[in-house]
Amino acid sequence: MNGTSQIEVHPYLNQQKLFDHCKSLGVAVTAYSPLGSPDRLWAKPGDPQLMEDKRLKSIADKYKKTIAQVLIRYAIDRGMIVIPKSVTRSRIEQNFKVFDFKLAPEDLQQIAELECNGRVCSMGE
Ligand SMILES: NC(=O)c1ccc[n+]([C@@H]2O[C@H](COP(=O)([O-])OP(=O)(O)OC[C@H]3O[C@@H](n4cnc5c(N)ncnc54)[C@H](OP(=O)(O)O)[C@@H]3O)[C@@H](O)[C@H]2O)c1
Repeated sequence: MNGTSQIEVHPYLNQQKLFDHCKSLGVAVTAYSPLGSPDRLWAKPGDPQLMEDKRLKSIADKYKKTIAQVLIRYAIDRGMIVIPKSVTRSRIEQNFKVFDFKLAPEDLQQIAELECNGRVCSMGE
């Protein structure tokens, strides 16, 4: 690998084109805000909340996992490095429990369909 590029990646901003480009250059992608930064201070009322998305909840239920675990696994199954952040012990532990399942291709496809150019960390904010 020729280093890593750290970029915002989650289902609302899946970065497929940039990811493919990085892959072609042998550059690994590190996904930040993989949970959609639910604690971001600049969220506006009514902004879609990734962690409350019913479509992700139904996929999570299928695997008996949480939405956070599905979001972390989503990045891993695409071949990315992923850095979820938590200051909560139980969540940190939960976020590590993602190595006992793998998302099926049809679920990865369903998640890919959530893409809506939904960037949460704008440059300059
Ligand atoms: N390079 C860059 O420009 C850049 C930009 C943005 C972020 N980052 C880095 O990327 C990392 C992650 O980004 P982020 O903090 O913006 O967003 P994130 O990981 O998408 O979301 C973090 C939020 O999710 C909550 N959370 C974590 N695990 C959870 C779980 N299992 N269930 C429910 N809620 C959960 C955390 O709450 P609690 O902490 O309260 O548990 C926190 O509010 C950070 O380390 C950050 O420094 C880098």
